[in-house]
Amino acid sequence: AGGSALDAAERGVMVTEAAVTNRSVGLTGYPDRDGIVTLDACIMDGDGRAGSVSFVQGIKHPVALARKVIDQTPHVMMVGKGAEQYARELGIEQLANTLPPDVQKAWEDWKRTAKYQPVINIENHDTIGLVLMDASGRMAGACTTSGLAWKMHGRVGASQIIGAGLYVDNEVGAATCTGVGEYE
Ligand code: GLY
Repeated sequence: AGGSALDAAERGVMVTEAAVTNRSVGLTGYPDRDGIVTLDACIMDGDGRAGSVSFVQGIKHPVALARKVIDQTPHVMMVGKGAEQYARELGIEQLANTLPPDVQKAWEDWKRTAKYQPVINIENHDTIGLVLMDASGRMAGACTTSGLAWKMHGRVGASQIIGAGLYVDNEVGAATCTGVGEYE
């Protein structure tokens, strides 16, 4: 409709971040081993501008916060409490860590053995990455995840790392990838 690729990348992955049945992206993703959902996201424009947030809690749309990092800060990456503080300053509501009943149950079940040998896709784990080109030929992309189920509190993967989970260059192309974030 004539909008920018960057806007479309942000809006596109926001659909998945808000999908309440999704267990690997957004606030309804599986939590870490302490029952806390932590999120990672990034967004990049084909002109080289990029924003990324990592280890954020209670933010419904981490990709929108990553977009603010591009538009309103001189930085590229923000993490944890500082990123959450920035969200509050922007008026973005920080929600409580409330697990959907089936997620709560899955976590309780996992805690019985607390066995942790992450194998991609067996835990319904994945990430959404989106790359696209707008009508004027400009590219953009975004990548967002709740990370590995039952991860250690504080663990982050590579989805939100510019150059690992996502890279976009109008002159060359765009790519996004996922897998076990330790190896991406
Ligand atoms: N692929 C996302 C992660 O490992 O966190």
